[in-house]
Amino acid sequence: MSCVLGIETSCDETAVALWSDAGGLLVHDVFSQTDIHRLYGGVVPELASRDHVKRLLPMVTSVLSQTSYTLSDLTGVAYTAGPGLVGALMVGASFARALAWSLGCPMVGVHHLEGHMMAVMLEDDQPSYPFLALLASGGHTALIYVREFGDYEIISQTVDDAVGEVFDKTAKLLGLPYPGGPVLSELAEKGVSSRYVFPRPLCQKNKLDMSFSGLKTAVRQQVSLLDVDDQVRADIACAFEEAVVDTLLYKTRQAIDVTCASDLVLVGGVAANKRLRRAIKNLPIRTYYPRPLFCTDNAAMIAYAGAQRLKQGGGERCVKARWPLESLTQSAQ
Ligand code: KG4
Ligand code: ZN
Repeated sequence: MSCVLGIETSCDETAVALWSDAGGLLVHDVFSQTDIHRLYGGVVPELASRDHVKRLLPMVTSVLSQTSYTLSDLTGVAYTAGPGLVGALMVGASFARALAWSLGCPMVGVHHLEGHMMAVMLEDDQPSYPFLALLASGGHTALIYVREFGDYEIISQTVDDAVGEVFDKTAKLLGLPYPGGPVLSELAEKGVSSRYVFPRPLCQKNKLDMSFSGLKTAVRQQVSLLDVDDQVRADIACAFEEAVVDTLLYKTRQAIDVTCASDLVLVGGVAANKRLRRAIKNLPIRTYYPRPLFCTDNAAMIAYAGAQRLKQGGGERCVKARWPLESLTQSAQ
């Protein structure tokens, strides 16, 4: 029976989880470093690495103590090998390697985006392969055709900023506190719809690419013309979200046409967004998404993806700040 420990340290969350084929997700824990980075208005890589070092061992001990399993029951250790902050990734990778070596069990370096896409498999309601994934996070935004586990084709992706990044930058522009995305999203729920209108970038029939950097410029220009009070801020947040959601839906419709997919999954940090989760249900396709906690960074998705990778032989990987998802498909062939 397999029992895989998952470790995620690619950015500003330290996360640990235990997955077994027999029992599914046994336990998981996430520690968010938000309070550490808030002071600086964004993630400070060196502080992130140092805090991962501090948290990882106590979290592994605590997670195991919540189960009937001990270290000697582990059949594998999975860690996020990239993409992400190199120093932060190295903490998780070094810890995983040392632990696997001391236990004499295999280890596997997992692609963070493969983890995000597999987060939906932690839920009772799961898609069937092949499916289309709308992946929207702080560092990546893409529509990916998933033929099977490990076989990925990027249908469309952003040519500039990721959606989460634009949420964060727009929140800053509106004077909202870090972390911007979720705070802006809460505020948008109080805004009046369509009081302001922002562009839907690259929504022309023949273009599959996405672009979001112009949207924050449009918000900046609008803000510079206004006396911004709380209601105006909420109305702008609402209009910004409407533009993002409309654009993502337009691009997803195009990708559905291209792939003829019948199942769609919504994953990555921005998949926690309430307006997007509501709107995606209106698409002519079966839709699936992880619970909000498994949309943002977590180790349950890494343990699950790692367990699947270990069935294919696993393998240690050097950590990588950049790591094209499609290279997984090539290496599988
Ligand atoms: O997947 P994730 O946790 O980390 C990366 O892999 O990047 O995504 C983080 C991103 C951040 O940009 C954050 O602002 C955004 O997801 N995010 C949200 C919401 N929750 C997190 N954006 C919009 N609405 C939310 N509710
Ligand atoms: Zn992520």
